[in-house]
Amino acid sequence: MMDSHSDALVFFGATGDLAYKKIFPALQAMVKRGHLDVPVIGVANAGWRLDQLKARAKDSVEKHGGLDPAAFQKLSGLLRYVDGDYKDPETFQTLRQELGSAKRPAHYLAIPPILFGLVVEQLAKSNCNRGARVIIEKPFGRDLDSARELNRILFSIFDEKSIFRIDHYLGKRPVHNIVFFRFANAILEPFWNRNHVESVQITMAENFGVQGRGSFYDATGAIRDVIQNHLFQVMANLAMEPPARTDSESLRDEKVKVLKAIAPLEEKNVVRGQFNGYKKEKGVAPDSLVETFAAVQLEIDSWRWKGVPFYIRAGKCLPVTCAEIVVRLRKPPTMYKEFNLGSNYYRFRISPEITSAFGVNRVPPGDDSVSEAAELIVNRHPAADEMDAYERVLGDAMAGDATLFAREDYVEEAWRIVDPVLKAGTPVHEYEPNTWGPPEVDRLVSPPGGWQNPVVEG
Ligand code: BG6
Repeated sequence: MMDSHSDALVFFGATGDLAYKKIFPALQAMVKRGHLDVPVIGVANAGWRLDQLKARAKDSVEKHGGLDPAAFQKLSGLLRYVDGDYKDPETFQTLRQELGSAKRPAHYLAIPPILFGLVVEQLAKSNCNRGARVIIEKPFGRDLDSARELNRILFSIFDEKSIFRIDHYLGKRPVHNIVFFRFANAILEPFWNRNHVESVQITMAENFGVQGRGSFYDATGAIRDVIQNHLFQVMANLAMEPPARTDSESLRDEKVKVLKAIAPLEEKNVVRGQFNGYKKEKGVAPDSLVETFAAVQLEIDSWRWKGVPFYIRAGKCLPVTCAEIVVRLRKPPTMYKEFNLGSNYYRFRISPEITSAFGVNRVPPGDDSVSEAAELIVNRHPAADEMDAYERVLGDAMAGDATLFAREDYVEEAWRIVDPVLKAGTPVHEYEPNTWGPPEVDRLVSPPGGWQNPVVEG
């Protein structure tokens, strides 16, 4: 509905890293597509003026995707800036003035969670919360208790319908297309269950380190940074039951059910690793025990999935940058033992390019004595053709569509699952950059038949 669209976007943390890397490019893209035509008010405590913010925005788009002169000029005209301490009520009175006649602002908190409570309270005191939505950056808390506390703070001012917890992975088209592909086709359903699936593996590999985010990362680690949120969302899309309807709540209900059926992680099902050299990164403690790699094994205790192990691994400084899922099927019975057949599988690649394919065995032309692996490719195209995840989620939040956001119960369930291992202090094994994590992984947390390491071309 047009009249529920946010009529101003306020973003706290306007001079920060996230704004620089992701938000300004997303805003320019939204303007270009004709999806943003309301005041955009940056807020920060940096002693800046509006012209400095505009210069930063220009630099940001130039470095991240490129300047579109017409769209940027329009965005520049929409930009406003409020500078001040979040503790100071005057900052929020100035914001109220900048909001002018806006009745349905969206407040985007691109700031450390420790400041959420303060900002939310100040929004209420200054009446900036009236008719407003609030958009929250991840990580949403650092464990179950802190997530509950954040929810409590938000609920003191906003209701769940006005709260949009970002997980930008949900804004990636291939991630939410998993749901489409599963339920718009009949082909997968007969084998998409414990009778035929042997294991599911999800890999998120990055061939770079912490890229100047050492102090953030050292307070976070791989499990909090990407497993509890991004990769659990991917798992939920893979494993959920068909929703009764396609509205946001019906979809989110099914995703929560997946998490509810997962027991808290046990220490034996987790391997943590740290790349050699991490402790020398700026902002990282010299004796840090934070993981830059983690592999976990889970089970979904449901009618569909009971007994099927789900494996998730994520790491920095691995050989490639790639996010990929492999759903491996059980091998066919006894025939063709001499061929050493590979398992059939379904493969979804989320990045760098988007691929979905069935893995099969076949005999090559003219030779019946060997079997070779082949893929039936459903689709394959560069991710660059897709709308950026931040553009999608910001647009959806401003339009009030909650489908691609994490709901309160989902977030708390996700923390419940990882909470025990976050607190357990399991060993951290060193691994060499450019390898697939510590050698312990293959021994301790590895699918039957092993991990299928993604191969990235080019
Ligand atoms: C972020 C994490 O949420 O996701 C980063 O904090 C990670 O550590 C990033 O690199 C990956 O997202 P994308 O979209 O760049 O693959």
